[in-house]
Amino acid sequence: MIEVRKVSKTFGAFTALEDVSFRVEAGEVYGLLGENGAGKTTMMRMMATILKPTEGEIEVAGYSVRIEPDEVRRRIGILFGGDVGLYSRLTARENIAYFGSMYGMEKQAIGERIERLSQMFEMGAFLDRRVGPFSRGMKQKVAIARTLVHDPDVILLDEPTTGLDVTAANIFRRVIGRLQEEGKTILFSSHNMGEIDKLCKRIALIHKGRLQFAGALEQLRAQYGKEDLDELFMTVVEGSGR
Ligand SMILES: Nc1ncnc2c1ncn2[C@@H]1O[C@H](COP(=O)(O)OP(=O)(O)OP(=O)(O)O)[C@@H](O)[C@H]1O
Ligand SMILES: [Mg+2]
Repeated sequence: MIEVRKVSKTFGAFTALEDVSFRVEAGEVYGLLGENGAGKTTMMRMMATILKPTEGEIEVAGYSVRIEPDEVRRRIGILFGGDVGLYSRLTARENIAYFGSMYGMEKQAIGERIERLSQMFEMGAFLDRRVGPFSRGMKQKVAIARTLVHDPDVILLDEPTTGLDVTAANIFRRVIGRLQEEGKTILFSSHNMGEIDKLCKRIALIHKGRLQFAGALEQLRAQYGKEDLDELFMTVVEGSGR
């Protein structure tokens, strides 16, 4: 569960997020939708306790990011899109194990967990190869496995499919499906409504730091009477007057 209550974030005189509230239920795949600069990454950074909200409160898995950041960190896995930052000279297994040791996991527990993740994401064929020459899709699999090594309940995925080709994006969506079957709570950000529609029933739409809509995508469609997702997105954004 993730609860965002009246959250604002300013950087000096600039307001990146203003009075944003929404709630992600346990076991849900929830979409965070917005154009470039909307504030998606800033929101996820606050959830991950990397940044502090200027105002308002965020609870993750029942813990306040402000009061108990360590409890939050233990229960979340976060993956930022773009360069996933793996160690190219280490193998996939070594990259994942390294993260496990940073979380203070025992060697045996790490080993077992890697076997499980390798099966789940079909990484067996390349688990013991150095990641340097891997394709983006392969790297992305290793990156998400690394994010999940400590078996977090809440998973924050910031534009994880951006830059992936159709095949890799499909594989990634299957991975998210598996995680949902395991009962994980997943927040998935994207600037593409079509991408969000493939995975999420409920979304928060942010435009220039303001929440424009939070709820079922179906309801948004009904409200604006539009089926085409790009058109729908543009209508909401233009209607915001920002
Ligand atoms: N550390 C910072 N200092 C100053 N401004 C910042 C900082 N971090 C983010 N911003 C600003 O806050 C706004 C929101 O940025 P953010 O990265 O959260 O957007 P985003 O929705 O993730 O965009 P994108 O789709 O491009 O990744 C932007 O205008 C950005 O320039
Ligand atoms: Mg971003």
